[in-house]
Amino acid sequence: MACTARSEENMPTPHAEHLPVLVPETMDLLAVEPGMTCLDLTLGAGGHSRALLEASAPDGIVYSIDRDPRALEIAGERLAGYGDRSRRLRGNYQDLLALMQAQGVERVDRIVADLGVSSMQLDDPERGFSFRHDARLDMRMDPDSGQSAEELLAEASESELTRILRDYGEEKRARAIARAIVAEREREPIRTTSRLAGIVEEVQGPRARMYRIHPATRTFMALRVAINSEVDGLEQALRDAVDLLAPGGRIAVIGFHSLELRIVKSVFRDLADRCRCPPGLPVCGCGNEDVLRLLTRRAVKPGEAEIAANPRSRSAMLRAAEKR
Ligand SMILES: C[S@@+](CC[C@H](N)C(=O)[O-])C[C@H]1O[C@@H](n2cnc3c(N)ncnc32)[C@H](O)[C@@H]1O
Repeated sequence: MACTARSEENMPTPHAEHLPVLVPETMDLLAVEPGMTCLDLTLGAGGHSRALLEASAPDGIVYSIDRDPRALEIAGERLAGYGDRSRRLRGNYQDLLALMQAQGVERVDRIVADLGVSSMQLDDPERGFSFRHDARLDMRMDPDSGQSAEELLAEASESELTRILRDYGEEKRARAIARAIVAEREREPIRTTSRLAGIVEEVQGPRARMYRIHPATRTFMALRVAINSEVDGLEQALRDAVDLLAPGGRIAVIGFHSLELRIVKSVFRDLADRCRCPPGLPVCGCGNEDVLRLLTRRAVKPGEAEIAANPRSRSAMLRAAEKR
């Protein structure tokens, strides 16, 4: 399966706990030192922020961004013991430069981003991310802004729905599902996860029920990615994050979805592969100096033990780089 997202079919039973992924691997690559200023672009339940706080003790500062107020609440309780060293900010990491400027921060030493949705969001029966719970189709990470999945399903054209399902879900039956959604919404608005799952199951037919993943998995994932603009804006956010790094600073990014993984890889390669000088020159003479040095030529994946303990980690991939 090319499309690898943190998705509900990976976990048979609901649980509200979010287990942070690839923490030792990320921390090895980041090599955080005491007193450093760090930035976590995706706070979630605070697992990676906590690791940054521990490694930068006794006086390092860790800024942590999330757009989900519930994540800020939960992580706020968990990280309260770190006092003023943990600074949690509500916002979109696509605005990271403005968010940091508002804090008076011009440079940071370490950045981590653990992209996508958290288990707390996926497993919350009221937020409509999952077909495993019957709920209103919301799917917004920030419940106070943007269009809900219910609104998108009511308003998008058939061709727009096809594009979303194909591009963000790599759903082979994108066109047929989009057509069914448009036909069904004429009869009655599509408001709930179970109704949408039923429409998709009907299109996929009885054979799809024998597949390893639920027939609606890709549809739900595609809508979630679209609703939260998980792919649009990621490239610029990564470039802004690299700009914010101090020379010698490091960035580590964990992704799950093939589209976001492709963006991370291409931005890192682009910034690390600029110099056209012949090998061995003491200084760059071509004027295209490399901005990054890759710390991972190949993406790092979770080991068997982590996958056994946390099946949702199985599609995670980690890349890291150092600013020159
Ligand atoms: C995979 S979870 C992070 C988990 C975290 N590393 C931990 O250890 O608990 C991703 C988090 O990023 C947040 N998020 C996703 N996209 C975001 C964005 N564009 N701006 C801010 N937060 C975002 C989500 O709300 C979610 O809480």
